[in-house]
Amino acid sequence: MLYKVITKPPMDIKTGALAVFCFQDNKNLSQLLDSIDKQLGGAIKLLVDSGEIKGKIGEVTVIHTGTKIAPGRVVVCGIGKQQQFRQDFIRQAASSACKMLAKKGVKDVSFAVPDKEITGLDTGLVAQLITEGAGLGSWSFKKYFTSDDDGNGIEAVNLVARDIEKDEVTAGLETGRIITESANLAREMVNEPANYMKPADMVLIAKKVSEENNLEIEVFEREQMEELGMRAVLAVAQGSNNPPKFIKLTYRGSSGDDIDLALVGKAVTFDSGGISIKPSEKMEAMKMDMAGGASVISAIKAISELKLKINVVALVAAVENLPSGTAQRPGDVVKAMSGKTIEVISTDAEGRMTLADVLTYAGKIGAKRIVDVATLTGACVIALGEVATGAFTNNQELVEMVKQAGEKAGEYMWQMPMYDEYKEQYKSDVADIKNVGGRDGGAITAALFLSEFVDSTPWVHLDVAGTAMIGKDRKYWSKGGTGVPARTLVNLAEALSREIK
Ligand code: BES
Ligand code: ZN
Ligand code: ZN
Repeated sequence: MLYKVITKPPMDIKTGALAVFCFQDNKNLSQLLDSIDKQLGGAIKLLVDSGEIKGKIGEVTVIHTGTKIAPGRVVVCGIGKQQQFRQDFIRQAASSACKMLAKKGVKDVSFAVPDKEITGLDTGLVAQLITEGAGLGSWSFKKYFTSDDDGNGIEAVNLVARDIEKDEVTAGLETGRIITESANLAREMVNEPANYMKPADMVLIAKKVSEENNLEIEVFEREQMEELGMRAVLAVAQGSNNPPKFIKLTYRGSSGDDIDLALVGKAVTFDSGGISIKPSEKMEAMKMDMAGGASVISAIKAISELKLKINVVALVAAVENLPSGTAQRPGDVVKAMSGKTIEVISTDAEGRMTLADVLTYAGKIGAKRIVDVATLTGACVIALGEVATGAFTNNQELVEMVKQAGEKAGEYMWQMPMYDEYKEQYKSDVADIKNVGGRDGGAITAALFLSEFVDSTPWVHLDVAGTAMIGKDRKYWSKGGTGVPARTLVNLAEALSREIK
């Protein structure tokens, strides 16, 4: 996708479509729509008066212009009622416009960036939101089709701004582009089938990200993970012929030595359940069990491209969970890196085992804050569905920041409790703890299990089992990987970078 800023008068732009936003239930057209309407002989006003243009979110009305103005089409994009306006509506409207125009074979679209008086938002932010909506909404995963009937979709997105707003809009577009491309990278990794997204493939992507952005990278092989004592990770990995990889990416954007933020991502490249094998129905979805790892690699890419003034480490233990003659068994006892012993009740509760060691590692390297992201429990999907990510914490201040970052991204976070009373559920008869706490409150006991491997470091755990991959199109996402919560993590790093300086 090509993105650029144009400062010509909108009606003079030679473009496939000129897109203009419009609030719901507003019979008075905005200044721009009004002047376009005049050029088109009142065509837009007629559509509004007849109720064909209502302005609802996602509503897209395409009007051919003939030869009256330079743009081939005018597209009126609804952004809902002004009183209920949320910034995410701009993303959704931009996405809907792109999807509709792509279907019609339009190649380039030019969005008129609305003034601050209209949205109440800074023009730069609006530019960012349009870019994100267009970039996320136009993205699709077509890699494995050998013929393509749908064409390439939208190839260029232009933002139309006044001369005096050019710098602001250009900066917003650039931020939006970086964030969108990082989220789309996460989506691509999640959609990749597990035979193309093995632990070693995740390493290749992490290496590419590190080379392009000058990040430090370390990749620990099985032997080095043994030396580190990551026995819980290795126990999960031992059933697969695809060797585990522990990836550490470091971005230094602040002059201090502190690791301000460690991003830990679950990366089970395929979760068959292991010996506690999953039912075969829908098992193919478990190629997405590396979404947490994908999101933290993607986030650190954007954080570095945005040059945020913060030091961030991304930690990803990539493994494959398969049954075999060498796989771990239910009943096994594993001594984790921290020294705690875990009784393996289910080899399908593998994510928490891999995270246990990586969280211990994050503590050992002195991270000041830890956020982990994991497609951890089916219980979280039952609780929150595909709409909200479960958030768990030992630090209210940090989770509030995460929630706010999520709200800004349009990636909702819902905090769940972590009462000590639930810990009863994962007491073991033979080891310090067991890896399953029963069906009741399954997302909570999984989070508490993780907390056993975090000291007093402020920590947030995000269970994205329901949100990292969705079963049907929603907002600017298409069925499949969403990239959640990569954009939230970028917003969080941005907010923290303002706090720590
Ligand atoms: N990867 C799954 C969780 C999951 C389920 C992610 C659905 C996305 C969609 C995880 O490793 C798992 O299998 N969890 C078990 C835990 C149980 C054995 C305690 C679960 O949720 O059933
Ligand atoms: Zn599992
Ligand atoms: Zn899993």
